[in-house]
Amino acid sequence: MTSTSLPLAGSEVSIPALGVGTWAWGDRATWGMGGYDTSLTRSTIEEAFEASVDAGVTLFDTAEIYGRGESERILGALLGADDKRAASVQVATKFMPFPWKLDVRASLLRSLRASLDRLGVEAVDLYQIHGPVSLRSHGAIADALAEAHQLGLARAVGISNYSASETRAMASALEKRGLRLASNQIEFSLLRTDPEADGLLATCRQLGVVALAYSPIGQGRLTGKYSADNPPPGKRTFGNLPMSVVDGITAVLRGIGEKHGGKTPSQVALNWITAKSVVPIPGAKNRRQAEENAGALGWQLDAEDLAQLDGVGRVGHRSLQNRFWQHG
Ligand SMILES: NC(=O)c1ccc[n+]([C@@H]2O[C@H](COP(=O)([O-])OP(=O)(O)OC[C@H]3O[C@@H](n4cnc5c(N)ncnc54)[C@H](OP(=O)(O)O)[C@@H]3O)[C@@H](O)[C@H]2O)c1
Repeated sequence: MTSTSLPLAGSEVSIPALGVGTWAWGDRATWGMGGYDTSLTRSTIEEAFEASVDAGVTLFDTAEIYGRGESERILGALLGADDKRAASVQVATKFMPFPWKLDVRASLLRSLRASLDRLGVEAVDLYQIHGPVSLRSHGAIADALAEAHQLGLARAVGISNYSASETRAMASALEKRGLRLASNQIEFSLLRTDPEADGLLATCRQLGVVALAYSPIGQGRLTGKYSADNPPPGKRTFGNLPMSVVDGITAVLRGIGEKHGGKTPSQVALNWITAKSVVPIPGAKNRRQAEENAGALGWQLDAEDLAQLDGVGRVGHRSLQNRFWQHG
């Protein structure tokens, strides 16, 4: 079991220091399910789910748009088939506030009810705004989240891809409605240390907002299994630095892992994130990946390792998509 658990502000919910991302579950374009990754199946997903929960990694992050609802459907089926494990799970999902959803209150409640239906639960533990792309004000979005919370459909509420100033604005808009902002889900890894460099992590800490790190192993790049000669397949646009740069970082991860009795590059990369009190939510396609990722917990990098990793972490890399999507 994981040793630490973090409370989500404004709720009775606590989450472990590490979660699981479920974008790949049912997704073809990026992750190859039903496409290039013939080894990714419902049964390997079930094994990933079981291995994670059994290791105490009980937070599962999904979204209405992942696989057009398929990720939520798969997670819902797993929860429905396994009451014992389901009882210990925290479910986080997301509302996509496309700019054309001008009636944000009605859209959000409709989306949330559809998510609950696919997930087969009465309420989600955490309901997040997927990105800062709505044309509506923070106040209008806060109204919608507050109503979802009052109706008992979301135990805690969060945001994703919001900058430090947007996080403050949303926290304050929610506070005016008697609600706390619980989390901000952001891309944070050794391939993108911007949230630390630009003060976003410090802001989250100050506000009592849990930072969740997405693409924490650079969409597989930091596992050590990809290289300049063997780049990752699929359309993986987060953490997409040149593989020659990534190779240098994975060499450092390998060296540090050896010093700690054979920890893998992924485990070192994830442990570096937890050392900053940020909760990584790595995707897992099968039991082996889930078990390896869970092994990022239960040991600690020392100050020398952390300084070395801080030194190789990359800041300032931005694709066009990221500029629009990730505010910082
Ligand atoms: N809010 C947002 O805007 C946003 C954006 C992106 C992601 N997310 C969330 O964050 C989660 C995680 O991010 P991510 O899935 O983009 O990237 P990631 O967690 O950095 O990488 C996940 C991928 O790496 C590979 N992998 C994972 N563990 C491994 C291991 N131990 N050994 C070898 N390979 C391993 C798998 O793909 P292969 O085996 O195919 O290499 C897996 O699908 C998502 O699932 C989603 O829930 C949110």
